[in-house]
Amino acid sequence: MKLQIHDTYAAMSAAAAALVMDTLRAKPTALLCFATGDTPRLTYELLAARIQEEKVDTSQCTLIGLDEWLGIPPENEGSCDYFLHHYLINPLGLKPRQVHLFDGLSDDLENECAMMNGLISDKGGIDLALVGVGMNGHIGFNEPGTPVDAAAHVSALEPITTQVGQKYFMGEQPLHSGLTVGLKQLLEAGQLIMIANGEKKAPVLRQMMEGEISNLFPASLLRQQVNGFLLTDSAAATMLTTQKE
Ligand code: PGA
Repeated sequence: MKLQIHDTYAAMSAAAAALVMDTLRAKPTALLCFATGDTPRLTYELLAARIQEEKVDTSQCTLIGLDEWLGIPPENEGSCDYFLHHYLINPLGLKPRQVHLFDGLSDDLENECAMMNGLISDKGGIDLALVGVGMNGHIGFNEPGTPVDAAAHVSALEPITTQVGQKYFMGEQPLHSGLTVGLKQLLEAGQLIMIANGEKKAPVLRQMMEGEISNLFPASLLRQQVNGFLLTDSAAATMLTTQKE
């Protein structure tokens, strides 16, 4: 894993956007898996602006959503679907055939997962996944204890995830479960880029980097990955004693 500690959230976001740009240039047909949340907002704004300014071809790439809340409709501003449309899909004019997001309202969740698994395997795996990290070390909705060989699945969410998740919504929501791309698919991605900023993530990064490598803290698995990147700002890195690689 490569660790990059940037001075600011803006610098971290610019570096993450640059990695995505490199992938899009090297492989215009790339399969990109994108997280939602507060962390990647600026990365996506910078990415969309650079793609437009530098006229990078996005007509052949495929974008998949990392996860989705069960029971939340796509028109809800807190849904992952709404977020990805707002920051990337609409600004870049991606066509419906290029985008695959979990349907949090589906009455056939097995099929939702099977469709995502089929798409990822048809494309030969994810080329680049950009993820955040939860307060319990989750990646997407791969909560602590998720098997490392998990493909897309329905995940029962821990109380910390459903409590923190309320911040995305206008009013209190009945959050309990989610759909997520699996740990195996993320760990096998060509590049797995995690971004984390702000002092509240400092203890999370400490456990990730200096605690036991275990699926009980999924983010720690990234440490073993040659395809792994952790990009942080200095506030999130204050508790790290490990050296930059
Ligand atoms: P955040 O969420 O970017 O809003 O901090 C991260 C996550 O839960 O994965």
